[in-house]
This record gives sequence, structure tokens and C-alpha cells, in this order.
Amino acid sequence: MKYYIETYGCQMNVADSEVVAAILKQHGFTLTNNINEADIILVNTCSIRENAETRVRGRLKVFQQLKKNRPDIKIGVLGCMAERLKEQLIKEEMAVDLVVGPDSYRTLPQIIENLKEKAVEVDLSSTETYEDIFPFHYDNNGISAFVSITRGCQNFCTYCIVPYVRGIERSRSPESILKEIDKLVENNFKEIILIGQNVDSYNYNEFSFPQLLKLCANSFPTVRFRFSTNHPKDMSQKLIETIAEHNNICKHIHLPVQSGSNKILSLMNRGYTREQYLDLINSIKANITDVSISTDIMVGFCGETLEDHQQTLSLMKEVEYDFAFMFKYSERSGTYAAKYLKDDVPEQEKIRRLNEVIALQNSLSYQSKQKDIGKVYDVLVEGYSKKSKSQYMGRNSQNKVIVFTSDKPIEFGTIVKVKVENFTSATLLGKTV
Ligand code: SAH
Ligand code: SF4
Ligand code: F3S
Repeated sequence: MKYYIETYGCQMNVADSEVVAAILKQHGFTLTNNINEADIILVNTCSIRENAETRVRGRLKVFQQLKKNRPDIKIGVLGCMAERLKEQLIKEEMAVDLVVGPDSYRTLPQIIENLKEKAVEVDLSSTETYEDIFPFHYDNNGISAFVSITRGCQNFCTYCIVPYVRGIERSRSPESILKEIDKLVENNFKEIILIGQNVDSYNYNEFSFPQLLKLCANSFPTVRFRFSTNHPKDMSQKLIETIAEHNNICKHIHLPVQSGSNKILSLMNRGYTREQYLDLINSIKANITDVSISTDIMVGFCGETLEDHQQTLSLMKEVEYDFAFMFKYSERSGTYAAKYLKDDVPEQEKIRRLNEVIALQNSLSYQSKQKDIGKVYDVLVEGYSKKSKSQYMGRNSQNKVIVFTSDKPIEFGTIVKVKVENFTSATLLGKTV
């Protein structure tokens, strides 16, 4: 049987699709990237905002059309929407044959093979980490790979659906993480991105994230390490020191702030104040040379006044983020905010505030790139630039994309020195030195 898979959502979903692909491969299924020759279509979904779900429902309508000519084709919804909507998804979307949540992927082969009518498998687990499964990196540049270190989240930020669809947080054993990295290195991967909803709360029998990161960096001195996402309430001084001490730990920290207003942070149950966040930023900047900092910002949360919004803008200016992901609040049913707080910022006003935040970040990103001009960075070469094979693309330690030229041919996966000469809205431009 041939299957086709599409992935939406965060890095965790990308990694999960690689786990799914490994499980299916073990059971003799073949991956195809041609939807027209697939016997099974899988879609790994995201529920974080309403529009993430709308996009998937749009795809399901397209798949339903395919079924008209090929009634035998089976369609499966995986991931967070599967977990959130369960049986409801089968009732609402004609196309759907199977619904399988994030902790039930081991059952997929059996479900597909035994499928008569429709199937739903959405039990959450307190222990599943898939740690014995080596992911199948089917859609990968062969250079950089995700390795998940935790699953689930129990922070219960009041706006967020993740704890409900991903279950409680569990950490993978350091042994299984090192083993996976070892295999990746054997397969020539050069960069490992350790991922979790909150890497800072990694805890395996009291073995902490800074200890894990240090162990990884020391065990694989030629590999570059990245990690995401940090949580301001849990990021420690020890972690900052660990990053500063190791050349092969990238100097980029993604530290979602969400809002600059203490009132809003408290309503969000984020567990830190603006002042604590800024102290953390100051410590990061003081201890890690040439560090880049990125964030997630959400506008228009329940009760956000113009003054709260101004505080977000002023915090952004104070931190001078290198880049940011920016969203407007989208109510998710079942969350604390949906139950107890009023979604009271009008849609038009949310859009206006979002545009203001985006415009400010554009100017901060511009400044940040301007400061890079003339600097020489170690760049891990990922491939040719999208536009032309006479240019290469890669990333520096700070996670900025650089498109550059070279007098000599370069092998992908090597680290070269690149001098920054210019930039566009999306990338730095330069040449090897
Ligand atoms: N675990 C990570 C990321 C979670 S989802 C963290 O805690 O930072 C990524 C981002 O989506 C969040 O940081 C937040 O900015 C945004 N987000 C989450 N729920 C949202 C909602 N209901 N509406 C709009 N944006 C949301
Ligand atoms: Fe959601 Fe908060 Fe967990 Fe991030 S830390 S996944 S925002 S509940
Ligand atoms: Fe979306 Fe689920 Fe990730 S809701 S952001 S795919 S954990």
C-alpha cells in the first residue's frame, strides 16, 4: 500500500510525521509524494488557531473530490485536530475514514489494515515518547534534523489548546536522545534541533535541560545544536552559561514573550512578569556574545487595552528582537480563556494591533540585519539558493538565512566563512571569504 502525507503546524508535527513514516515503513507501507497514486492520504494537523483548522478542512474538501473517482482511497486525520475533535471529525467531514491522535501512531498500521467502516483512536498517554523509533527523514535536506526531547505540555497558558491535545509533559531518556543523534551523525547530518513545547522543563530523573544540552554538545563536538522552544518562566542561568561555553551550541534563543503587559501576562497564566522577562533578556545579552533573540507575540487577548498593547510595543523596542512570529488571539474552545474570559477586542482592532506589531518588527529586523553588514559568520551550507544554482544558502549560528556566492564550488553540509555585504527583507546576502 502506498501512502501520501501532508504536515501542518509546528516543528513537533514535522517530527511526528517522521515517526509516523518510520512506523509505516516498518510495516511495509511505501511513501509517495504523488497524491494520485496513494491508497491512503494522511494529514497531520494543527489546532493552535482557528485558521490552522480552516486550512485543513479546505484540504479535506479537496480529498473528498479525489474520492469521487477513486472511492477506495482512505483518508486519515492525525495530530492535534484529530485529538481535539475526535468522532466529531468523522461526522463533520465526509472524507475522513480514520482519526488518530498524537499518542496513538503505533496503532496506525493495524488500523489501516483492519479498516472496515471508520476508526477513531485518540487515547492520550502519560508515557509514550516513541523513543525507540528512529524517525524516517523523508522530506529533509539531509543536513539538519529535529530530535524531540519532550512530548506534551502542562503549562496551561489560558489561551492555548496544546495541553488538551498533546497530554501531559514527558521527557525522553538521555540515552535514547544520544542514540538517535548518533544515528543521524552516521547518516551525515550536521545540525540537530532539540525540540519540545518547553525544552527548559525537560527533566528525566532529575537530569535537566542544561545537562542534556551540555552532554550533547560534548558528545558530538562537530555537530551544531539548536533548541526550541524556551519558556521565560523556566529558562535558567545554568542554560545561559552552557550556551555561552560551547562553540557548537548556536547563539540563538527563541523566547516567546506573548505580551509586554503584566496584566495580560497574568491573565495568560504565563508565570513571569515583564520585569523578570527583561532581566532574563539582559542576562542573555550580557553572557552570550553575538546572540540573536526571537519571540512569539500575540495581540488582542482578552482584556487587552490600548495601554497594554503599547507595553508590548515598548518591550519589543527594548529587547530589539532579531525576528518574531506574530499572531492575533484566536479563541480555542475548552481552554480557560474560552470558558472564563471575554474575547472582547473587536476583530478589526486585533488586525490593526497586529499590523502595528508587524510594522515595528519589520523595522527591528531591518536594524538587526543592518548591523550584520561587514561581519563574517560561520555558515552551515544547506544547498543552492532557491533562485539560482550560482548562489548558495545557509544559516549562521544566529539562525539568520544567508544567500551567498563563492569562487569555488562548496559541498553542502560544510561550514564556510561568509562576509555579509547586503540584505533583503528575508535574507542576508554575502560572499565567502
Ligand atoms: N510551546 C511554545 C509554542 C506554542 S504555539 C511556547 O510556549 O512558546 C506557538 C505560538 O502560537 C505561541 O507562542 C503563541 O504566540 C501562539 N498561540 C498559541 N495559542 C494561540 C491562540 N489561541 N491564538 C493565537 N495565537 C496562539
Ligand atoms: Fe501552549 Fe503555553 Fe504550553 Fe506553549 S507553554 S504549548 S503556549 S500551554
Ligand atoms: Fe499546532 Fe499541535 Fe503544534 S496545535 S502548534 S501542531 S502541538
